[in-house]
Amino acid sequence: MADLIIKPSSGLSGEITPPGDKSLSHRAVLCAAIAEGETIINGFLAGEDTLNTVKAVQMLGIAVEDAGTGRLTVHGKGLDGLSEPAGALDLGNSGTGMRLLAGLLAGQDFFSILTGDRYLRKRPMARIVEPLRRMGAVIDGRSGGTLAPLAIRGGGRQLKPIQHASSVASAQVKSAILLCGLYADGVTSVTEPSKSRDHTERMFRFFGAAVKEQGLRVSMRGRQRFKAMGPLDIPADISSAAFFMVAASIVPGSELLIKNVGVNPTRTGIIDVLKDMGADISLANRREQAGEPVADITVRYRKLRAVQIQGDVIPRAIDEMPVLSVAAACAQGKTVIQGAAELRVKESDRIATMAAELRKMGAEVTELPDGMEITGRDRLRGARCESHGDHRIAMSLAVAGLAAEGETIVRDAGWIDTSFPGFERLLKQAAG
Ligand code: S3P
Repeated sequence: MADLIIKPSSGLSGEITPPGDKSLSHRAVLCAAIAEGETIINGFLAGEDTLNTVKAVQMLGIAVEDAGTGRLTVHGKGLDGLSEPAGALDLGNSGTGMRLLAGLLAGQDFFSILTGDRYLRKRPMARIVEPLRRMGAVIDGRSGGTLAPLAIRGGGRQLKPIQHASSVASAQVKSAILLCGLYADGVTSVTEPSKSRDHTERMFRFFGAAVKEQGLRVSMRGRQRFKAMGPLDIPADISSAAFFMVAASIVPGSELLIKNVGVNPTRTGIIDVLKDMGADISLANRREQAGEPVADITVRYRKLRAVQIQGDVIPRAIDEMPVLSVAAACAQGKTVIQGAAELRVKESDRIATMAAELRKMGAEVTELPDGMEITGRDRLRGARCESHGDHRIAMSLAVAGLAAEGETIVRDAGWIDTSFPGFERLLKQAAG
């Protein structure tokens, strides 16, 4: 795949709108598929991951029309409208697509197989397989059902609701159980150690279902019918905006407006941490779209200082840790990230991969079992870096390259298309 060549920037400027939110795009097409009637989805992310979820939904017998430019029409057939797929569903690189679909398929009364690329086939699946089996699905897979491919015989009429206490704060686990729980008679609940993103809960409500939240516990009655509720407008992805927030914060001379960004409080850890580091970030034009808060974000360059990143902010910024480690590498002092062991089971081991790549750029980084220590320096050095097959590592290194001395090459950067098609063009537009 292609290499990305990054030259130092003399400041990011103008305004950009990043592509649609990835988490919301997966959920929108899955929920619309089991709703009664037609849903138009605007702002759908046309990334490789979310398009694989669309293909899977089509293989389940649901018509989805793509009018281009992020507009999809999904012809939902109601809760019991899915049909047995004729072949394996391939989710490519997407953990969200695989885990959410596993939950939905565990609720059906037919057989299906989920698979993915070599990276996804290494990611832990026991966290969803175990509760879904308890609900009545028969699931097998490699390594005793802990690794994909997964073969799922849905629980159908035998399905039971469960009260699940999750050992990880994971929206994918929570969502898989809730999607399966939709098909069980009675109340299903999930309790988490700290709150993960609540897009599934909000999206269920958008389709007219009742979901209750009490502290860290989410519960929902099964067999609730989803109704098509008019256009579903997906805001821009804060996780994609994050690369530009950090870039504008670390490249002197920057002032950038990032428009129409989803600012759900379970996702805004990036803003809180950057502000803690002294960043100049302001939100304007706050509004709501399809049950999700949205705002325009202005970021101006300001010298950052080191911080401690730990506790409840970790799940609220879990996908932003790679780019926050770049911010830390450019900040004054030693930043410590702790309580983020989940980073080791993402698209790559993001602690090991960021530590290795930032060191190539001259940063002082120590790996911890559940995080890292990063001592910032005045100026990073351009280097020849690797993506490790991970879109967020590739984009984080591109951001580091903008603030570095000399040229940076990010090898094998095609992975960026899983979540952010058009990244290079937008970066070059903003950074010159
Ligand atoms: C996601 C949840 C997070 C996140 C991922 C998207 C989601 O994963 O890292 O990129 O859409 O539910 P976990 O649930 O494993 O924390």
